[in-house]
Amino acid sequence: MATFTPQFLDEIRARIPVSSVVGKRVKLIRRGREYIGLSPFSNEKSPSFTVSDEKGFYHCFSTQEHGDIFTFLMKTQNLSFPEAVERLAEEAGVEMPRQTREEVQEAARVTLLQQAADAGCGVFEEALRGPEGRRALAYLRESRGLTEETIKRFRLGYAPQGNAVKSKLTARGVKEDLLLETRLVSPGKDGRESFDFFRDRVMFPIMDARGRPVAFGGRVMGEGEPKYLNSPDTPLFHKGQMLYGLSLAREKASADREIIVAEGYMDVIALAQAGFTNAVAPLGTALTETQIALLWRFAPEPILCFDGDKAGRAAALRAADRALPVLKPGFSLRFAIMAGGKDPDEICRRQGPEAMAEVLAGALPLSEVVWNQLLAEHPTDTPERRAGFEAHAMAKAGQIEDETVRSQYRQMFKNKLYELFRPERPAAPGRTGQGKAFRGSKAGSKFPRGASFPQVFPRPAAVSEDARSQTARALRERILLATALNHPEIIERVEERLGALMFSDARLDSLRQSALLHLAQTQELDFATLRAQLASQGFAQELANLLDSDIYVHAGFAKPLVAAAQALAGWDHTYALIQRTDLEADLKRAEQDLAENPSEQTFAALKALREQTGPAEDDDQDPGHP
Ligand code: UTP
Ligand code: MN
Repeated sequence: MATFTPQFLDEIRARIPVSSVVGKRVKLIRRGREYIGLSPFSNEKSPSFTVSDEKGFYHCFSTQEHGDIFTFLMKTQNLSFPEAVERLAEEAGVEMPRQTREEVQEAARVTLLQQAADAGCGVFEEALRGPEGRRALAYLRESRGLTEETIKRFRLGYAPQGNAVKSKLTARGVKEDLLLETRLVSPGKDGRESFDFFRDRVMFPIMDARGRPVAFGGRVMGEGEPKYLNSPDTPLFHKGQMLYGLSLAREKASADREIIVAEGYMDVIALAQAGFTNAVAPLGTALTETQIALLWRFAPEPILCFDGDKAGRAAALRAADRALPVLKPGFSLRFAIMAGGKDPDEICRRQGPEAMAEVLAGALPLSEVVWNQLLAEHPTDTPERRAGFEAHAMAKAGQIEDETVRSQYRQMFKNKLYELFRPERPAAPGRTGQGKAFRGSKAGSKFPRGASFPQVFPRPAAVSEDARSQTARALRERILLATALNHPEIIERVEERLGALMFSDARLDSLRQSALLHLAQTQELDFATLRAQLASQGFAQELANLLDSDIYVHAGFAKPLVAAAQALAGWDHTYALIQRTDLEADLKRAEQDLAENPSEQTFAALKALREQTGPAEDDDQDPGHP
């Protein structure tokens, strides 16, 4: 890519005043030697945005955004720097710089390297179709369930034993030094012959953003180390700056403004085969800032998929930490955590696209992941610990460089903290409908109430409203049961409600009933004994799934070591959410009934339900009190 000299950039700056670039977007009013207007970077009512043609800068006092004509276009029109330069150079009538001789030579060399990598890709594709590739083709089709179309789309191949790439390509006149530079061929040590880098592996070509092969990943079939061998960085390939599958994903990603980030090659491919053609993956490393910026060019909130196992959760938290500093208004990440150590490949293949769609629809906003992690890491059961918790939360928000986003995070953390520990409110008049259900945490309780619970299903994706509320419900049920099992000490306060709530999953519902039976019979509330008893009744698998799963990401309070007060507060709140959602569903149904069949009866039914909801809530997160 061409670099621009300061003189060249200054010439454009000299010809185009900042006010004319900004003025196309913001209504500017002259104030002495400067202009002022409403900031395009925030939603303000009184102007805090100033432009100085003399200085060649704009400055926004509310967001601290500051820059020149180039940055203004980059920020407001999502252009890269060279794109902004090109556009303004044209407007200014300044000719773009001609490349230097070295740059021209370098570009020619890169073209040759690209041709070599593409030819290598062709060798692998051919080998997959030849007799030597029979086992590899069977592996892809049978073991991995890939269709012919998918294999072609991703240009999958097979690297044979021996030196197929070197011999075939040098025979076709490709210079060996090019093959060495693409790293398809490795230099022989101590004067020995060079040799093929990939041997007897299924090959996954890595394409650049324009779909040209620039590097490769090769997987062993069956056991063997390393599982995936990857090209090292070369002049064509910089792993931290690319995303596997991007050239194929960009069309759907742009159209839908949605992009999915999986962990590996096979996930991207399986997702695409299942219809999620907007999936990409980093190349075996944690997501870099460059990759995050790249993702944001396609979608404001990319969905990152992680295994629900320990390693996956740790990776999710690393990605969250990586993203915090670079967040900007309107841009974030979402996290889809898959239960039971599965990856998208397995979910798409074993459970089908609908199950995958549900996982994606359940993605949590970054802010919730961060909050849940804070809750899981820092105790909040004494005033001092709450103060410590608050300090940690504020420090976490402090990692965000963008001031607007940072202050939103601080505000959210403060609100949630307040929600979690606010004093009890006096009962609102006219709210009786759910009285009995809430007795467990009635006045006089030493426990806080109204624990904040993450909004688990923030946005519809490809699934219906119904499917979403069902999974939300199922997740909440699992949270209730896991919290109760991990905290037998709260059972007295929740058993009445837990006893009255039928679960949607039949197996989980029998586990619920059995657990309640045991808890009712035993005096000492010992988790280990309880678990052993339930396991001996044939619930070992359900217990394992339930207690080592993704729900802790959704509900930190369900964890075993969390203080009882917090566990109970979380339980109460989750239960209230279920109640409210049920009531809302009933209301909706009654409204529909009334619309379809207007009668005295349907009207009375709706009216009765409406009375149960009571007056409109002042606080959406709060389910209401008896
Ligand atoms: P995983 O080990 O999770 O494998 O690696 P996977 O994607 O599920 O692969 P299959 O299903 O067993 O075939 C995730 C990603 O990490 C990188 C690769 O990019 C892989 O896609 N990786 C993994 C390596 O680079 N080298 C390895 O040895 C293993
Ligand atoms: Mn896998």
